[in-house]
Amino acid sequence: MSIRNRIGVMHGVNLDQLGRRPAAHYGGLTFEQLEFRIDEFGAELDLALQFFQTNAEGAFVEQLHRADEVSDGLILNPGAWTHYSYAIRDALEIAALPAVEVHLSDITAREDFRKTSVISDLCVATVKGQGPEGYREALARLKQELGE
Ligand code: DQA
Repeated sequence: MSIRNRIGVMHGVNLDQLGRRPAAHYGGLTFEQLEFRIDEFGAELDLALQFFQTNAEGAFVEQLHRADEVSDGLILNPGAWTHYSYAIRDALEIAALPAVEVHLSDITAREDFRKTSVISDLCVATVKGQGPEGYREALARLKQELGE
């Protein structure tokens, strides 16, 4: 059996600005530091991670269009697009890969507009409100899914 361990870690709009965003919601890590932590979690779990971040919705969509060529599964934190981007939702459906949605903050305990996720029903799990540690749980969940 071939090993399915290639994971695309995709971050959307404004996540590159971590470190300048409210620490009460997002903690104090910069985006570079967050990706470094996620990379460590991936190494612990024997997963091969590729990272992608953009502030352009179309670029995120196009990355999803080619995701199945390079990844076996996806970790997605689309930022604010989570709450309204049907374009990203449709592209995730096209990608047809196991995906776990992650949010640093607890999107269900904030403003009403954040309570909706237009991608969650396409994902095998959602991890929220656990800060950077949430990515470890998300990767472990995805690994389990890929092993089944
Ligand atoms: C976020 C939550 C979103 O509501 C917000 O727009 C973000 C980050 C999170 O990781 O908690 O940019 O996805």
